[in-house]
Amino acid sequence: MEAKSKVKEINLFPYVEKIGREFDAYKNSLEKELKKLEQLIHKFNPSLEYKEQRKSVENMFKIQGKINNLKLRLEEIKQEIQMAEKTEEEIEKENQQRQNTFNGMTAREWTLHSRNVWNDVSSPRKDYHKEHGAVFPLKLAERLIKMYSREGDLIFDPFSGIGTTIKAALEMNRNGVGIELNPSFYELTKRILLDPKETPIIDSCIFSEENNGFTIQKNNANDLFSLDGIPSNNYIKLFNDDCRNLTNYLEADSVQVLITSPPYADFIRKSIEDREKVHKTSLIKLNNNSTVKPYSDSHLDLGNLPYDEFLEALLPIMEDTYKVIKPGGYAIWVVKDYKDKENFTSYLDFHTDIANLGKKAGFLYHDLIIWDQNEQRSLVLLGYPSKFHTNQNCSFLVVLRKPTTDEMKQIRKKEKRGIEHPNDRHQSNTKSQNIRRGILKHN
Ligand SMILES: C[S@@+](CC[C@H](N)C(=O)[O-])C[C@H]1O[C@@H](n2cnc3c(N)ncnc32)[C@H](O)[C@@H]1O
Repeated sequence: MEAKSKVKEINLFPYVEKIGREFDAYKNSLEKELKKLEQLIHKFNPSLEYKEQRKSVENMFKIQGKINNLKLRLEEIKQEIQMAEKTEEEIEKENQQRQNTFNGMTAREWTLHSRNVWNDVSSPRKDYHKEHGAVFPLKLAERLIKMYSREGDLIFDPFSGIGTTIKAALEMNRNGVGIELNPSFYELTKRILLDPKETPIIDSCIFSEENNGFTIQKNNANDLFSLDGIPSNNYIKLFNDDCRNLTNYLEADSVQVLITSPPYADFIRKSIEDREKVHKTSLIKLNNNSTVKPYSDSHLDLGNLPYDEFLEALLPIMEDTYKVIKPGGYAIWVVKDYKDKENFTSYLDFHTDIANLGKKAGFLYHDLIIWDQNEQRSLVLLGYPSKFHTNQNCSFLVVLRKPTTDEMKQIRKKEKRGIEHPNDRHQSNTKSQNIRRGILKHN
């Protein structure tokens, strides 16, 4: 029997026209920047023109980033077209795949989401973002939720900020729990979530508040259906508390994925001091447009702790998150490495410390995703003229995974036979570790 096509005709014209217009605009801006650069090089005068040249090169990087986004958009359009051309059999096969995967993705979607360098997750910046100063984009939370959970799963953010993670959870038919210490960020999250312009879905939800938290629950009576056709009554909750109390709010083995960006010890305070003292007249201050500021003066705020104390405080939190995450569930920590002036190193590798803390708490190190932020940040002159180091205009998404029950059993069995836990393997004097250190010579 011949397979039937679901949709016979699709009008590609608006897509093609829009993409064409955007390409033309970027091509023109690139050409303009190139011309400017050529002129500058022609009458090169290092002291006068350096700033302009740099701006021009940066503009080109930004345009390049936008072109990359367009490429991804084209890929999405290609997918939409393929979707529209699918036969009933193909649709059936995909539905099967969606049911078989833990995150409801088809094999094709799975592959398309497996890039590990992202430069297409920026979301529009609103004024209220400045009230906080260090939020991650909604698109970033949405992508992680799509990759690591399915509808109805529970998502958790222990350092909720202005609630980006739980907002994405609500909008994507997941449940969400957030904890935020600072009462003004708790109130700001409430304002954002209750504003239909910011959170249109709120019109079909019920809001309730008690003691130190609130709940927003989808209203079943409005017949709100998820994509699967199952009535969706998911909820989100936010608590105004210290996340060291997280086990008061979450049951053991209940969370499918944790998505968070912790305070970066007292790095924010240090960078502000640094900018004020050292870079009073430098380009770093002029061009980095930073909006970050300390979160609070509270002694419970992890953003007020020196780095070592901060790591010490984070370990029991990691251990508690391990308890509440389901076997096989994920924990994703979004962090940036810190420019470390005091210890003769270029960067303090915060992301490695997070991975190691996670391993100490029992998680398996699972993946590393680079969030490329070149588009939003200017380049500054570092180490000149004696030590070259790069502008780390990126954040790291450290992906940890709690072993499944079966993996835990196997790990225990192996440990009984004297085989190390996977997390200890790199810490002791194993052969591979020694080779890496250059202690053993290859035969
Ligand atoms: C990097 S921000 C998170 C921003 C968040 N990802 C967003 O997009 O809105 C870190 C947050 O942790 C909060 N925080 C600091 N110490 C805390 C603690 N002990 N318990 C809970 N939250 C805390 C800070 O107030 C700050 O809002």
